[in-house]
Order: sequence, then structure tokens, then C-alpha cells
Amino acid sequence: MESAHAHRKDEHLALSEAEYRQHQPVSSLKQVRLIHNSLPELKIDDVSLAVSDKNFNFTTPFYIEAMTGGSNRTGKINKQLAEVARKTGLAMAVGSQSVALKDPEAIESFTVARQVNPDGFIIANIGAGHNAKSAQQVVDMIGANALEVHINVPQEIVMPEGDTDFMWLDNIADIIQTVNVPVIIKEVGFGMTAETIQTLHQLGAQYVNVGGRSGTNFAIIEDRRNREQHRSFDFLYDWGQTTAESLLEARSLTDSPIILATGGIQDPLDVLKAQIMGAKAVGVAGHFLHTVLQNGPEGLIDEIENWQRQLKKLYALVGAKSADDLTNVPYILSPELQNYKEQRHL
Ligand SMILES: Cc1cc2nc3c(=O)[nH]c(=O)nc-3n(C[C@H](O)[C@H](O)[C@H](O)COP(=O)(O)O)c2cc1C
Repeated sequence: MESAHAHRKDEHLALSEAEYRQHQPVSSLKQVRLIHNSLPELKIDDVSLAVSDKNFNFTTPFYIEAMTGGSNRTGKINKQLAEVARKTGLAMAVGSQSVALKDPEAIESFTVARQVNPDGFIIANIGAGHNAKSAQQVVDMIGANALEVHINVPQEIVMPEGDTDFMWLDNIADIIQTVNVPVIIKEVGFGMTAETIQTLHQLGAQYVNVGGRSGTNFAIIEDRRNREQHRSFDFLYDWGQTTAESLLEARSLTDSPIILATGGIQDPLDVLKAQIMGAKAVGVAGHFLHTVLQNGPEGLIDEIENWQRQLKKLYALVGAKSADDLTNVPYILSPELQNYKEQRHL
């Protein structure tokens, strides 16, 4: 018999897939239009998708974002995602490992990712309510190359059994200072303001994933789980900043951590736009989960290889040989996004 915490992981998986099928997300990056250049003067063969810095070296700028693990069922999905990551060379984050700190039976559903993909870039995941010791434990559990610390207040608010204590800054600072791999502070789909990013930077964060709205929506998912209470939080379904808005927030800072993005990425053009707006790498969760559930690991490998080919062509379309050239690509914002930018004085 699996624990209630493990059962919650199965519910997240099932509800996010059900929600995805009913309303496939529309990325907020659709509100950003790239400006066409008829003369890019480039050969597709000369394009490189590689992105790197002192801590990582990715052949592809998008990666499999944190989702699963904690139960038998989600362990099987982690195994499949790890196979996909190994075969495509993508980095991969596992879902929150806090369940495995309480319940040793859940450990295997995470370690499987490392067993299947011994040399891959694997990212551990834990919530900001945990201390540095627990954070190091989840890193060691899977021999992780980096750690994501997720921040998710709206999710906890809607979740019937959610946390009620959001005193997180000391934990975040301790984790950044003591854990022996690079740390990414990550939202789970509610986005971030420039002020939040600045606070995290002051705490020492080197990497921030703005994790914006317009994709998987944990206000909706937790509300659907909240059956007994029948007290809906439907007024929070559009809470938070979209991914496009969050990237504008991040761009307004002169001194900022390295920015990653996730939330609503549905195709290679969304990846490209997120990069152009300042994301060093781009996480994809719901769309890849849906693909692996529908078409199995082979189907997801096919999808990712197609994205890699198409993204290379898109780089050529905008005249970029590598990610460094993307900063020069002009774009305009929809009136709604422009309005957001103006009202926020970004
Ligand atoms: C089933 C599921 C479980 C998730 N669990 C976690 C988690 O444990 N930790 C975390 O940081 N994010 C978690 N996420 C959030 C994703 O990492 C991502 O930030 C969010 O889904 C937005 O990206 P998307 O629109 O591409 O799905 C989960 C997402 C899904 C779909």
C-alpha cells in the first residue's frame, strides 16, 4: 500500500494529463512576435544548438522539466523519461523528492533515472520548505548534477494538505551556500517578478527558473484534487505572471542571475522565443509528459529529435549561428503584453 504522499503524485500525473487533453495550453509566448529578416546569410549546417556555462554543457537548449517519481506508477514514467534523456542527450529534472525523504520505498522511483542514464545531466528537486541537509540528501540520492528548489505558494494554498508556513528565505540561502552542486530556484507555473529575482540574487542564487503561467496550472490541478471540501479556488486559476511576463520582468534587471524558463512551452518556436527573451535554457514538462503517455518513449524521442531539427532551422531563419546571436533578434509584444510592461515600468 503506497503512502498518501505517493498517491498525490499519481493524482498530479493523471490530472495534469486530463487537463492537457481537455485544454492544450497556449503558450504566453504567442504574445511575442519575432520580426522576419529576409537575408539571414547563414547555412543550417553551421548552426549549433549547444548552450553552456561554467556549470553545464547542454547539446540542446531545452530539457525535460521536473515532474515525476514518488510512486510505482510515476517511477515507471521516470524510467521512460530517463531513457529518452539518454537517447536524445537532453538534461532531465526529476519531480520533488521530498516523498523519498519520508518513505524509503519511494527512493527507487527516483534512483531509476540515474541507473538508466548513468552519464546524463540529472537535476534533483525539492521544495523550499526543506533545509540544506535534506537538499544535499536528495542530490546524493540520484548523484545529481544540479538541484532545483521549487517555490510554489499558490499550489500549497489550494492543496487541501498544503503547507501553511512560507518562511523560506533562510532555507534557500543555506541550500545555495552548502549544497555541493549548482542550485536553481524554480517557480512551478506562477511566474516571478523582477523583485523576486533580485531577492533570490541577493541570497546568492546563480540560476533562477521564472516558471511562468500559460502551461500546466497547479491551481487547477490542486483544485481538482480538493474534492472533499468543494470549496473551489477557481478565482486563482489565472494567478501569477505568465512566462512571457516573467521574462520581461527578468530582462528589466541590469544585474541578474542566469535565467531559465518553463511554463507553457509547446513547440520549438516557443523555445526560441524564450531564449530570445533571455532564457539560457528552457524546461518542458506537460507537453513531454503528454507525449510519453500517448506515444511511449519512442514517440517522445521522435518528438524531441524533430524539435531539435526544427529549432536548428529556426535559428537559421533568425540568422543565429548559436545562442549568443539570439540577443540580436528583434521582436514586438502584443498590446496586452506591452500594457503589462508599461504598467510594471519594466
Ligand atoms: C505531473 C507534474 C508534476 C510536477 N511536479 C513537480 C515537482 O515535483 N517539482 C517541480 O519543481 N515542478 C513540478 N512540476 C512543474 C513543472 O516542472 C513545470 O514547472 C510546470 O509544469 C510548467 O511547465 P509546463 O507548462 O511545460 O508543464 C510538475 C508538473 C507536472 C505536469
